[in-house]
Amino acid sequence: MKIIAISDYEGMSREAANIISTQVMQFPNSVLGLATGRTPLGIYRYLIDRYQRENVDYSKISTVNLDEYCGLPSNNEQSYHYYMYSNFFDHVNIPKENINIPNGIVEDVDSECIRYEKRITELGGIDLQLLGIGNTGHIGFNEPDESFAKATHCVKLKQKTIETNAIFFKSPDQVPKYAITVGIRAIMSAKKIVLIASGSEKTEILYRALFGLVTPSVPASILQFHPDVTVVATEDALTQIRQKTDAIL
Ligand code: PGA
Repeated sequence: MKIIAISDYEGMSREAANIISTQVMQFPNSVLGLATGRTPLGIYRYLIDRYQRENVDYSKISTVNLDEYCGLPSNNEQSYHYYMYSNFFDHVNIPKENINIPNGIVEDVDSECIRYEKRITELGGIDLQLLGIGNTGHIGFNEPDESFAKATHCVKLKQKTIETNAIFFKSPDQVPKYAITVGIRAIMSAKKIVLIASGSEKTEILYRALFGLVTPSVPASILQFHPDVTVVATEDALTQIRQKTDAIL
C-alpha cells in the first residue's frame, strides 16, 4: 500500500485527479469505479479542468458508481445520479450508455442488485476504483457487519452515516434509510484502488482501516489485502497514522 501525504484538500484532489487522468490517457477503454460524497468533489473539478484544457478523452471510458440511495429519483438533488451528472458527467464526454449507477427507485431491489452485479461482470470488472471512507469505516455503502458483503446489495445505513450525510438534506429524517451498494468483491477485484481521505475527523478510522485488524466491523480494512492501493490523504487525516505507526509517508 502506498500512502501519499498532502498538506491540504486542494493538493489531495489534484493528486488523485492526476492518477485518474493518467489512467484515462494510458488506457482509454478503462472502467472507472466512481465515488460520491464531499471528498471527491475537488477531484471531479480537477478532472473537468484537465478535460477542458488538455482534451483528456473519455469517449471510450465506462463508469460504475459505487452506490445510490433507495427511494430517490435521479432528478432529486440529493441522489447520487444528480451528484454525478452535475459534478462530473455533464462536463466530460463519457457516452451516456457507458455510465452505470444503481437505480434507487426500482420496485424490485433484489433484481436491480443482480442486474448491477452482472453489468460489472460484463464490463470485465473495474480497472481503477476511487473510494472515500465513511466515519463508520464503510467503503461504498458497505457498512460494518458480521461478514463482508460480497455482491451488490441493499444495505440499511448506520445511524452515524445518516447523521453525517444529513448536512445535504433539510433534516436528518429526510436521509434515506437504505441504499444499494456495490459489494466488497467488485471493489477488491478492481485492478487498482485509490482511497482518498481528508480532514481530522477521518484520522481515527483511516488508522484503523489501514493499520488495524482486518475485520468486517471496519469494512475498509479489507483493503489491506488488495495488491494495488494508493491512499491519497491530507496531513490532518494522517495524524494518527503518523503518531501510532512507523509508516514512511
Ligand atoms: P465523504 O464520504 O467524502 O462525504 O466524507 C465518504 C464516504 O462516505 O464514503
